Amino acid sequence: EKIVLAYSGGLDTSIILKWLKETYDAEIIAFTADIGQKEELDGLEEKALATGASKVYIDDLQAEFASDFIYPMFQSGALYEGQYLLGTSIARPLIAKRMVEIARAEGATMIAHGATGKGNDQVRFELGVAALAPDIKVVAPWRLDTFRDTFPGRAEMIAYAEKHGIPVTASAAKPYSTDRNLLHISYESGVLEDPWFDPSAPENKEMFLLSADPQDAPDEPEMLEIEFEKGNAIALNGEKLSPLQVMDKLNELGGKHGIGRVDMVENRFVGMKSRGVYETPGGTILFTAHRKMESLTMDREVMNLRDSLLTRYSTLVYNGFWFAPERLALQALVTESQKNVSGTVRVKLYKGNVIGAGVKSPVSLYNPDIATMEADPSQAYDQNDATGFISLNALRLKVGKGVEQNQSK
Ligand code: ARG
Ligand code: SIN
Repeated sequence: EKIVLAYSGGLDTSIILKWLKETYDAEIIAFTADIGQKEELDGLEEKALATGASKVYIDDLQAEFASDFIYPMFQSGALYEGQYLLGTSIARPLIAKRMVEIARAEGATMIAHGATGKGNDQVRFELGVAALAPDIKVVAPWRLDTFRDTFPGRAEMIAYAEKHGIPVTASAAKPYSTDRNLLHISYESGVLEDPWFDPSAPENKEMFLLSADPQDAPDEPEMLEIEFEKGNAIALNGEKLSPLQVMDKLNELGGKHGIGRVDMVENRFVGMKSRGVYETPGGTILFTAHRKMESLTMDREVMNLRDSLLTRYSTLVYNGFWFAPERLALQALVTESQKNVSGTVRVKLYKGNVIGAGVKSPVSLYNPDIATMEADPSQAYDQNDATGFISLNALRLKVGKGVEQNQSK
């Protein structure tokens, strides 16, 4: 028996690795997706082997994450509950996809993860696996009574680690949990469970890893030009870059200027509300600039239609339906809606803000001749037509009000 485990090197997945190996008498293949969690990956391979993994995969999936997951999602303009740029949500299907590939290559019939039974991540991993490899069985130790009874708290986990010689990182446990990738860092649980707790207070400054406190950000604004092609950012300040390079550069710039911090209470798919704090520096710049590009180049009714489906799209990503037929169908519409979203947006980055500072496009739909309040040289718009336009639109309003007035007589 072989089990592919989504392994992070933290206490939970280390314990799970050993526990699975003993409980199922299985070979454990530890898998870590490098999706931009940086230092967290240091020493991971040795640690997994020392903990009992028979094989370790640490795959650099950053380029694929940027081009096949982050970019298509940003084409849509997805935003969950008006605030969350879906940094964790969009990474889970990629991890599921790669786990399935490894399971196939290794002849494993089981996949395991360390997500709890109360969160969204379990759903995202498992819906991903179900959609790609329905025959593969998923083990979620945190949902098993035997596992939870064995490890009711951190103390039992540490004791187990010591007993089995599992290396536990000495670094002091943070009073909250984090999830980092190329798009964001999320912070939740622990002290953050109190929604009145203020992470932006000066004494909590050290929590944030990607962005400067907007108060401490440079006093000089920085200009940035982003070139889009069909809704995708392809160049920064005139330099052509890959999606991964764009994300790296935007994170650096956004971080420097304190951009992209969000503190919210969100609705988890499994039913409860949960407090989340996010840093999405590059994603926030991209999101804002993309909207500005659309404002100049997107047809009104196409925008309207896409916007009417935005909540659906965001919810699908949040709830883990990335590989579901309805997300793919929606994506086709989104991608089609972007075929004219090309040109350049200039923004000013300043103390937590992304300020529009100009937009241009060779395929702009904006026509100053038509829009001008001065005499229209193109003659495309006849002001006399507006009289009939308004009167036909007014008809039902007049009829409705007339009926109301008659009844009150
Ligand atoms: N609440 C966010 C989401 O559901 C972030 C989850 C973070 N996950 C984690 N394992 N720390 O997308
Ligand atoms: C977890 O439960 O593993 C993290 C939180 C979440 O998935 O929403």
